[in-house]
Amino acid sequence: GVFGSGAEAKDSFLNIAHRGASGHAPENTMAAFDKAVEMKADFFELDVQMSKDGHLVIMHDVTVDRTTDGTGRVGDLTLEELKKLDAGSWFGPEFAGERIPTLGEVLDRYRGKIGILIEIKSPELYPGIEEKVANALKKRNMHRPKNGKVIVQSFGHESMKKFHRLLPSVPVGVLLSQADYQDGVSDEDLAAFARYADYVNPSQSLVDEDLVRRVHDLGMKITPYTIRTKEEAERMIALGVDGIVTDFPELGRLK
Ligand code: G3P
Ligand code: CA
Repeated sequence: GVFGSGAEAKDSFLNIAHRGASGHAPENTMAAFDKAVEMKADFFELDVQMSKDGHLVIMHDVTVDRTTDGTGRVGDLTLEELKKLDAGSWFGPEFAGERIPTLGEVLDRYRGKIGILIEIKSPELYPGIEEKVANALKKRNMHRPKNGKVIVQSFGHESMKKFHRLLPSVPVGVLLSQADYQDGVSDEDLAAFARYADYVNPSQSLVDEDLVRRVHDLGMKITPYTIRTKEEAERMIALGVDGIVTDFPELGRLK
């Protein structure tokens, strides 16, 4: 079938380190991305936003408060201001001095070493961010699939439609939150996604056998988030998902 034999399906299972190996090192830093490489994850995921002066920076929350020693909104700070912040100490003293990476720095450092799942975070706050991400990939020839495993995803589905138009050779994923889809994911929703997306990436709470089958029937893959325990990983694997997004890449090896 489309997804190959059991053996092929096993080989292609994606173990994706969420914000890097964020159970072991401070999320969205080089330390967490290095750890993902060291643990032999297939991909790491990261969250991209835009600084006040238009640079693409890697940070999950829309403020720097939780994961750095600074305060304020990412979009209200310049790259120079963001680069002064300590993005590691909150996780542990051994990570003191970790800096907020830029997307360019991450692409340059990890290209060819591991897959990169780029989440465009809160795209509605950053007009033009899709063009900037597309340009960062094109500049490095990473929009050609053989030159670098890259997937781009967002909870902002209009943003992903736009990204797909800008750079059709790069696979796109739609993120589905429990809150937005608590009444279920309809066939109409899935048919709309299939027009531009290659991945449907729901909260694991939304995943059942039926959803996995319906996503596969439309030729898309499903890599749910955020798996944090062995029980959760085993449930996802039993349901036949194509990969998991996990804080602990050791869990992706259960497959
Ligand atoms: O890859 C899925 C996951 O990253 C989405 O949730 O809040 O961790 O960005 P969040
Ligand atoms: Ca994310």
